[in-house]
Amino acid sequence: MPALATENITAGYGRNVIISNISLSADVGTITTIVGPNGAGKSTYAKTLVGILRTQTGSIKVNDHDITTMPGHLIPRNGLVYVPQNDNVFVNLTVRENLEIGGFASPGDSSARLNEILESFPDLKKATGKRAGNLSGGQQNLLAIARALMVKPTVIVLDEPTAGLSPAYTDVVWNQIETIKNTGTAVLVVEQNVERALTHSDFVHIFVAGTNHLHGPTAEIAKHDLAAIFLGRAEAPQS
Ligand SMILES: Nc1ncnc2c1ncn2[C@@H]1O[C@H](COP(=O)(O)OP(=O)(O)OP(=O)(O)O)[C@@H](O)[C@H]1O
Ligand SMILES: [Mg+2]
Repeated sequence: MPALATENITAGYGRNVIISNISLSADVGTITTIVGPNGAGKSTYAKTLVGILRTQTGSIKVNDHDITTMPGHLIPRNGLVYVPQNDNVFVNLTVRENLEIGGFASPGDSSARLNEILESFPDLKKATGKRAGNLSGGQQNLLAIARALMVKPTVIVLDEPTAGLSPAYTDVVWNQIETIKNTGTAVLVVEQNVERALTHSDFVHIFVAGTNHLHGPTAEIAKHDLAAIFLGRAEAPQS
């Protein structure tokens, strides 16, 4: 049973269907990436998983538990968390306060978890009293990821966690993502950079025009003419 199992998801905005019949699953201890051209529906899919958008067809299961119609605010405590592409921290609150808010999504005392998280995010540990708005863009993304991890999720969905970051900080964020995969969490990442996706992930899904066009283990996907797929050309025959 995969940690996350989605079958035949169709969703969009109002009557506009953006993604059609997307099936995708993700396992604990692996990194799965979604890549694809701008406007392919990657963020739409991510938003549908966490109840920001509703499915028109299909099902979403976390640990075999159907969350397809669950209210969005209950989804984190059922094991699925999402870090959006933009505006993912409370800029006027401190690092510590941002993390505490992450803990509100699950019942009980979260101080032990907060300390655990700070141990695994050294950059944040040094800055617990700092306003999130005064962190660098990369540190803000790490804080958003750390906050999502406060509930010990089964699945974390990250939408372009390294967009706009320097290559050096992109390495920092990806190292952190690789650490998360080893802590009993399934990691699903929307990634703009195909090279990065191929380097860091176990499974790759390529979305094109709202469909899951091609997917498989990274080594298999790397054999395809990805440039042609991204440019919307028919794939060249394999030589
Ligand atoms: N709030 C919205 N209302 C209506 N249409 C939207 C909305 N957000 C996105 N869309 C449309 O949905 C389609 C898919 O957008 P989406 O943001 O899911 O793509 P994406 O693959 O994440 O692209 P990018 O790589 O640019 O982030 C686009 O045609 C976009 O114009
Ligand atoms: Mg997007």
